Amino acid sequence: MSRIEGNTAGVRKVALASLEKIYDMAVPAGQMLSAALAETLAGLTEELGREIAVYINRRGQIVKVALGDNSTVSLPEAAGRRSDRRLSGLRCIHTHPRGDSQLSGLDLSSLKDMRFDVMAALGVAEGRVAQVSFGFISGVSGDDYEVQTVGPLALETFSEIDLPYLTAQIDRALEAKTRTIRLEEGERAVLVGLERAGSWDVAESLKELAQLAETAGAEVAGASWQKRDRPDAAFFIGRGKVQEVAQKRQETGANLVIFDDELSPAQQRNLEQALGTKVVDRTALILDIFAQRARTHEGKLQVELAQLKYSLPRLTGMGLVLSRLGGGIGTRGPGETKLEVDRRRIRSRIADIEQEIGQIRKHRDLHRERRLASHTPGIALVGYTNAGKSTLLNTLAAADVLAEDKLFATLDPTTRKVVLPGGQEVLVTDTVGFIQKLPHPLVAAFRATLEEVVEADLLLHVLDVSHPLYQAQSDAVFRVLGELGAADKPVITVFNKVDRLDNPNILERLLRQPDSVAVSALKQTGINELLELIRAFVRRRTVDMELVIPYNDSGVLARLHEIGAVNTTEYGEAGTRVTVSLPPERARQFDQYKAGE
Ligand code: GTP
Repeated sequence: MSRIEGNTAGVRKVALASLEKIYDMAVPAGQMLSAALAETLAGLTEELGREIAVYINRRGQIVKVALGDNSTVSLPEAAGRRSDRRLSGLRCIHTHPRGDSQLSGLDLSSLKDMRFDVMAALGVAEGRVAQVSFGFISGVSGDDYEVQTVGPLALETFSEIDLPYLTAQIDRALEAKTRTIRLEEGERAVLVGLERAGSWDVAESLKELAQLAETAGAEVAGASWQKRDRPDAAFFIGRGKVQEVAQKRQETGANLVIFDDELSPAQQRNLEQALGTKVVDRTALILDIFAQRARTHEGKLQVELAQLKYSLPRLTGMGLVLSRLGGGIGTRGPGETKLEVDRRRIRSRIADIEQEIGQIRKHRDLHRERRLASHTPGIALVGYTNAGKSTLLNTLAAADVLAEDKLFATLDPTTRKVVLPGGQEVLVTDTVGFIQKLPHPLVAAFRATLEEVVEADLLLHVLDVSHPLYQAQSDAVFRVLGELGAADKPVITVFNKVDRLDNPNILERLLRQPDSVAVSALKQTGINELLELIRAFVRRRTVDMELVIPYNDSGVLARLHEIGAVNTTEYGEAGTRVTVSLPPERARQFDQYKAGE
C-alpha cells in the first residue's frame, strides 16, 4: 500500500515510487530544508503538475508525504500537541506548481488549525524552486492565532533560517500572550546554578530555587552546579556542563531546566537549543509565582507590568532571526516591521497599566492622607519571604490574612488595625516578601506595594531565626530597603520562629541588639513584648499630657481618641480627667485643658 496521502489517482507507479523515496530524505535536525529535498520536490512537482506536501518533525524526519492541497492530510499526533499553547512540532513544506509562492488562505488556516511550526510554500518554475514564502504563528489575539508571513525569499535564505530558535521564540510568544509564563502542570525540573566568589553559597541558593520551583508547581528532579569566575557569554555555564545537564535531564525525564540567575535572551536561546527543552531563569520563575499569587486588581496589574517589561527585551531574539531575512530582501523586512508593531503594542499596554496603577495609587494616597490626618501611626512588616510576616500580622490583629508555607504568600499590601496595650491604635501593613536576587525590574514594579514601607513610621523587620541563612537574608532585606530609600527608618527587629530553635542560647546574643524581640508568631509567644516595644516607640514620638475636660466639652474627648491614645480616664467634679499621648504637633491645641491650669 502506498504511503502517499492525498489525491494519487492517475499517478504512475514510477512517480509514486519516487514520492515514496522522499520518506528516506531526512533533513538534518535543526535545519529548515535540505537542498536535496528541495530539488526532489521541485522535480516531482514539475513532472506531476501537482502540489506536493511534506510534513517534517523537529528531528528532521519526514512523517508524511501528500499530493494535492494540504487541508485533507491526516497527521500523526506529534509530541507537544497536547498543550494548546504549544506548537505541534511539525512543519509543512509544500510546493506551488505555478512558480508563485504566496500562501493561500487555506495554507494559513491549516497553519493555525494544526499549529505547525512553520508553513512554507515553494514556488516551482521550470523544475526549480523559484521562490519561497512562509508563515508562522506570532501570537494570540482573543481565541484566534495571529500569523506572520515572510517572503518571497530565495531558497538559500529560507534554508538558512534558524528553525529551533524560531520555534522556541514562537513558543515563548504564545506563552507570553497568556500573560503568565506559566509552568505547566506536572513539570519536572532540573536546577542549575553557578558558584561565584562572594555570592551566596550555591547549595543554599539552589535550595531556595527548589522551594521557588515547588511553589510554582514544578517537581524538582535534580540539581547541578559549577564553580566559575564569570558566566559563559553564550551558555552561562561551561559547554561540558551543558552536556552534563542535558544528560541529567534525560536520565530524570525532566522537561524543564531552571537557572538560578537571570539569563540573557541569547543564553536562554542557546541553552534551549543545546538542552532540547524549555529553559527558564530565576526571574521568570519568580514572575510565574507572582502571577499565580496576585490577588488584588493592583497586584495583578503589577505582575502583568513586570512580565511585559521582562519580555520586551527578549523579543529582540525573534528580531535577530527576521532581520537576517530582512538583510536579504531590503533593510526592513516584513518580520521586523511586525516586530515593531508587537513592541509598540506591548509598550502601549505598559502605558495603560501604568496609568491604571496610578489611579489606584491616588485612591491609596487618599487613604494615607486620612491616616496622616488622624495621626494613626503606620507600621510596615518587612522581611525575607517566608519569614512569617503574614502569620505575625494574623497574630497581632487576629486578622485573617492568608499564611501558607509557600513563598510569596503575600503580594498585595494588607493593612490591619492593631490595638496596643493602653488603647492606642496603629495600622500594620504586610508587604511582599523580599528575596535574594530579586531582580531590579521587579523591585521597581513592586515599588507601589513597597511604598507602604517608605511611608511607614516604623518598620518591623521579621526574621526567621530558625533558618540557617537568616543573617544573609537580613542583609538582603536591608539591601532592598536601601534601594527603596528606607534604610534609615526606625526598625524593631522581630526574631521569629523561636519555637523551632534547637539551641535557644543564640537568642541571648541576638537580643543584645536594641529594639529587638524574640517571638513565635505561630505559637503566639513574645507577642506582648513586641506590642510593648511598639508602644514604647509610639510613645517616644508622642507627648503625654494630663487634661481635664469639662463635661460640656464632650467633643474634645472624641477628638483625643481620634488623634492619640487616651491612657486613663477618671470622672472628677470639674470634668473628665484623662492622661493622653498625643503627637507633639497636635498637643498644643489642648493646652487650655491641662490639669492644674
Ligand atoms: P511571604 O508571603 O512569602 O513574604 O511569607 P511571610 O513572611 O508572610 O510568611 P508566612 O506568614 O506566610 O509564614 C511562612 C511559614 O512559616 C508558614 O508555614 C507559617 O506557618 C510558618 N511560621 C510563621 N511563623 C512561625 C513561627 O513562629 N514558628 C513556626 N514554627 N512556623 C512559623
